[in-house]
This record gives sequence, C-alpha cells and structure tokens, in this order.
Amino acid sequence: MATALRPSLTISIFCILASLFRSSNADTCKNYTFPNHRMFHSCIDLPYLSGHLHWTYIPTSKTIDVAYRAKQASTGWIAWGINPTAEGMVGTQALIGFQRSNGQMTAYTTPITNYMPSVQPGSLSFPVSNISAVIVKNEMIIFAVLGPWNGSTAVNHTWQEGPLSGDVPRAHSEEGSNINSFGTIDFLSG
Ligand SMILES: *[C@@H]1O[C@H](CO)[C@@H](O)[C@H](O)[C@H]1NC(C)=O
Ligand SMILES: *[C@@H]1O[C@H](CO)[C@@H](O)[C@H](O)[C@H]1NC(C)=O
Ligand SMILES: *[C@@H]1O[C@H](CO)[C@@H](O)[C@H](O)[C@H]1NC(C)=O
Ligand SMILES: *[C@@H]1O[C@H](CO)[C@@H](O)[C@H](O)[C@H]1NC(C)=O
Repeated sequence: MATALRPSLTISIFCILASLFRSSNADTCKNYTFPNHRMFHSCIDLPYLSGHLHWTYIPTSKTIDVAYRAKQASTGWIAWGINPTAEGMVGTQALIGFQRSNGQMTAYTTPITNYMPSVQPGSLSFPVSNISAVIVKNEMIIFAVLGPWNGSTAVNHTWQEGPLSGDVPRAHSEEGSNINSFGTIDFLSG
C-alpha cells in the first residue's frame, strides 16, 4: 500500500513545486504583453534559451501569425524556424533577427541547408510575409506571417541564438542548450 502510494505522492509534490515555480516566474508566455499590444491566441514557453513562441493559426487563410521571443543582448542574434523535412537544424526554414551596428533591428528569412550556413537572406519553402523584429528590454522578438501553410499543422521546429561580428551572424555554441533547442508543436492545439 505504502509503496503504491509513493509514485502519486511524488507526482503531486512535483506538481505543487512546478506550479509554485511557474507562478513565481515572471517570464511566462501566458501573461506577456507585447509592446504594440499585439495579441496571439496560443503560446509555449520553450525549454531552452529562454525562448517563447506565440502564434495564431487562421484556418480560413491557412496562415500563422507568429512571434518568437527570447532573451538576447544587442550583440547577438535570435532565430526560430520550422523544419518541414526532418528533425533538427539541417532543413530548417528559419527566421533570424538581430540589431545592426547602426542600431536598427533587422529580420529576414534564411533556409538552413547545412551545418555551416551562410545565414544570408533567402526564400523559404513556404511563403513568409510581414517579417520584422524589435528589441524590448533584454529580449528580441521576431514577428512574421507564415503561409498559406499546406502541410500538417504539427511540425518540427528549432530555435537558436548566437553572437554577431559586425552585422554578420556567427555560429552558435555547439553545447548544452544550443544543441537541444528543437521539438514539435501543433499550431492547431494550445
Ligand atoms: C505573469 O504572472 C506572474 C504570476 O501571476 C507574475 O508574477 C508576473 O509578474 C506576470 N508577468 C507579467 C509580465 O505580467
Ligand atoms: C519530426 O521529428 C520526428 C522525431 O521527433 C520524426 O520522427 C519525424 O519524421 C519528423 N517529421 C518530419 C516531417 O520530418
Ligand atoms: C499552398 O497552397 C496555395 C493555394 O493552393 C498555394 O498558392 C501555395 O503556393 C501553396 N504553398 C506551398 C508552400 O505549397
Ligand atoms: C502586414 O502588414 C501590413 C502593414 O503593416 C498590414 O496592413 C497587414 O494587415 C499585415 N498583414 C498581416 C497578414 O498581418
């Protein structure tokens, strides 16, 4: 009897601790207010690199309004993307954002075709419009509209961050969080 109770007790304690942690963590996606009061229907706090993805799936146009938000200093870049053909980095259809040395934020699309990508602007395998980026406090946010999205709404995605050299994004770290930052999401759920 005692041993049968133990796992559920452990789970309850874990849930209590998890909810305490969550409610004391100011950096959750659910109550985040965007600077221009833009609203998104769904969001997820990503498990690595202080990343948060916010989105609204619009069934009539099959478009997805997305905002990828992550901690980053003006000396670095952030990126998020969908990999429609595989899991992980290679094949990712990415959005990247960073601050140029003139102080202006820039954001563009770049397909990741190998492990040493040039990260120059290029078109993706699906349409992307209205891409922009802002820097707010200690975070950067990339906004974009994806689609029409004809594939499954359940996708493999990746997110990343790294340093800049002048106005050129440089390779990200190949350790820890930077190699674990991929997963799956469903634009229809959540
Ligand atoms: C989000 O909610 C948590 C818990 O209620 C709170 O501590 C935090 O300050 C809130 N953050 C924002 C940005 O409103
Ligand atoms: C997405 O990743 C999973 C592994 O998590 C893999 O089984 C699946 O084939 C990938 N999907 C696509 C479309 O490549
Ligand atoms: C999705 O379908 C629409 C309408 O048929 C088409 O215009 C668009 O190019 C397609 N997108 C992709 C990525 O295949
Ligand atoms: C794209 O941006 C333009 C100009 O800001 C705006 O009028 C339009 O509604 C936006 N489109 C979408 C799909 O968000």
